[in-house]
Amino acid sequence: MELNQLLGRIVDEVAPLRGSGVVADYIPALARVDPAHFGIAIADLEGRVRGVGDWQMPFSVQSISKVFTLALVLAGSDEALWRRVGREPSGNAFNSLIQLEHERGIPRNPFINAGALTVTDELISQVGDASGELLAFLRTESGNPDLRVDAEVAASEAAHADRNLALTHFMASYGNMRNPVATVLDQYVRQCSIEMSCRDLALAGRFLAAHGVRRDGSELLTRRQAKRVNAIMLTCGTYDAAGDFAYRVGIPGKSGVGGGILAIVPGRCAIAVWSPGLDARGNSVAGVAALDHFTTLTGWSIF
Ligand code: DON
Repeated sequence: MELNQLLGRIVDEVAPLRGSGVVADYIPALARVDPAHFGIAIADLEGRVRGVGDWQMPFSVQSISKVFTLALVLAGSDEALWRRVGREPSGNAFNSLIQLEHERGIPRNPFINAGALTVTDELISQVGDASGELLAFLRTESGNPDLRVDAEVAASEAAHADRNLALTHFMASYGNMRNPVATVLDQYVRQCSIEMSCRDLALAGRFLAAHGVRRDGSELLTRRQAKRVNAIMLTCGTYDAAGDFAYRVGIPGKSGVGGGILAIVPGRCAIAVWSPGLDARGNSVAGVAALDHFTTLTGWSIF
């Protein structure tokens, strides 16, 4: 099936789901977004990008940023991070505190909030301005110099960060924090509040489909590292729904409570979908359905 035809078919298939689910309301600035939006974009290895629906409309990337900070940290120090964070699916909510005490301040994986806070802490130690480094990377890969942190979302999240502050202090109490809690939180909130469209995200995530090679041909990650980031996306990228996501979609994916999902077909393409209505576990209802149709219609599942 030709790509435009495929994208049109996906839009038709998910139309009845648009507006179902609930928008994240624990960050008040996100609660105002219309849940009926839907966009999808596909970037191929050559950096060509196609999309339909609201594919050029910016939204809050939230936890999708965690894929990029992980890649930047691994590019800088490879194995050092794994002394501070695990690589197993959590089976718990993304902001759960429970496991952290049992596992003595070592988060299960880099994509639950506790693990992502550790990654941000590590990136601060490497480069100082972690969110600035991330933004520069995303601007270059997407070819969009206008990408920015949405200050209103950042302020809103910072004002409602008790849970993330608790997680960070808790890890600090176990000696698993290198920088001051306030600094880590500030950088984490900024990275989550970056606004991008499906177009921008698909292009920015393209390097994971290209085995770690950036648009300019330079290597961010080795082939082995890219394989590993994709594996962690598959097993941990959609939190306590990772098993169901693998079952339905069958490729690595990382969701955010803004309603976006970045998914990777290794060796082929990166796909970004966005629809703000979320299911009970924080994943976009229409977004997961669109990816399910995409891998079924193309046969591009890894299984
Ligand atoms: O830390 C938080 O709660 C948000 N900034 C990000 C959460 C998120 O996107 C989880 N994803 N599904």
